[in-house]
Amino acid sequence: MGLFDDVLGSGESLFKNEDALEYEFLPKILPFREREQRELAGCIAPLLQGRNGRNVLVHGAPGIGKTAAARAVLREVEEKSEDVSVVYLNCWHANTTYKVYLEICDQLGYKFTQNKNSTDLLKVLTSMMNKRTAVLVFDEIDKAEEFDFLYGLVEELFKKSLILITNYKSWLLELDERVKSRVMPELIEFRQYDAKETREILKQRLDAAFVPGVWEPAAFDLVAERAATSRDIRAGLFLLKQAGQRAESVASKKVTAEHVRSAVAAIGEFTVKSKDDLGEEEQFIFDLIKKQDGAMKMGDVYNEYKRQGGKASYKTFQRKIAALDEGRFISLERKTGDGGNTTLVNRKITDY
Ligand SMILES: Nc1ncnc2c1ncn2[C@@H]1O[C@H](COP(=O)(O)OP(=O)(O)O)[C@@H](O)[C@H]1O
Ligand SMILES: [Mg+2]
Repeated sequence: MGLFDDVLGSGESLFKNEDALEYEFLPKILPFREREQRELAGCIAPLLQGRNGRNVLVHGAPGIGKTAAARAVLREVEEKSEDVSVVYLNCWHANTTYKVYLEICDQLGYKFTQNKNSTDLLKVLTSMMNKRTAVLVFDEIDKAEEFDFLYGLVEELFKKSLILITNYKSWLLELDERVKSRVMPELIEFRQYDAKETREILKQRLDAAFVPGVWEPAAFDLVAERAATSRDIRAGLFLLKQAGQRAESVASKKVTAEHVRSAVAAIGEFTVKSKDDLGEEEQFIFDLIKKQDGAMKMGDVYNEYKRQGGKASYKTFQRKIAALDEGRFISLERKTGDGGNTTLVNRKITDY
């Protein structure tokens, strides 16, 4: 009677390779990032010929393939050449000069780091790295608390490329002039994917992760739409995985729109946060910014905030502004003018 045709047998799975949905999974090919990868490769290319490379600042919104593209380029360098040492660090973890040097030594396989200070470690790592050329990636560079290591590495390494990655282009403007003038990075901007690109990227990951044919088209449509709205590929990956797991947990042979909908309920953290998630103070500041047309200087927003009875110090106020930026309620833009740097606060950014 076929009563159990829709039921997954024991030992059967909808997934053929669930790992393909991990954020760290690096696909063989990254569609829509050819130009960016080629530009990155261009900065590194001289290193393969024993010449000095160029430094780069990669910037763009979260979840749009900056890390993935950089890692893909590193992977290729490692495959192509033995003459380039390759180091990848995330500045969330390696957030001080000492930790950066320690981590580099570690990646180079140097064990005797105990009792060595930053200066010692820099000596060790440069003497190792200067036997070859070097490419060093500092992901989430804006999370680092100090930047002397950039200075140290640029000064001491002979032939290298430093690749710095950040969600905030404005980070560069805040960098100490002494360091900035040494690093002098080229800029590579990653733009957002459009809805069609997002869909195609997710389709590729779906095909890598699931047994063919298990996704109902309408279910995938929902995932693609949702990921396009949140403008973060990770939201789509999360939904693919969650919906797949939900389907499997009820022994369904298909992933349906219903499974996706129940997964969506768990996705809160990926969407642009709703206004209700804002604290009172952030809400107050956001409302104030919303009333403005166009961009406003940070200082002027603060003055207006004070005028309307705001009590926080400028530092606290700046942190609230940063939080609003992270939640994508507003966007910040750095402008350099005669009077120094100013931060412009834009209301926006969401078009949902
Ligand atoms: N063009 C692409 N093709 C395939 N996967 C992609 C692509 N762009 C991003 N991704 C995936 O989306 C997720 C987020 O990308 P990631 O590089 O971590 O973003 P970012 O570093 O910009 O925040 C990762 O799992 C990554 O593999
Ligand atoms: Mg990243």
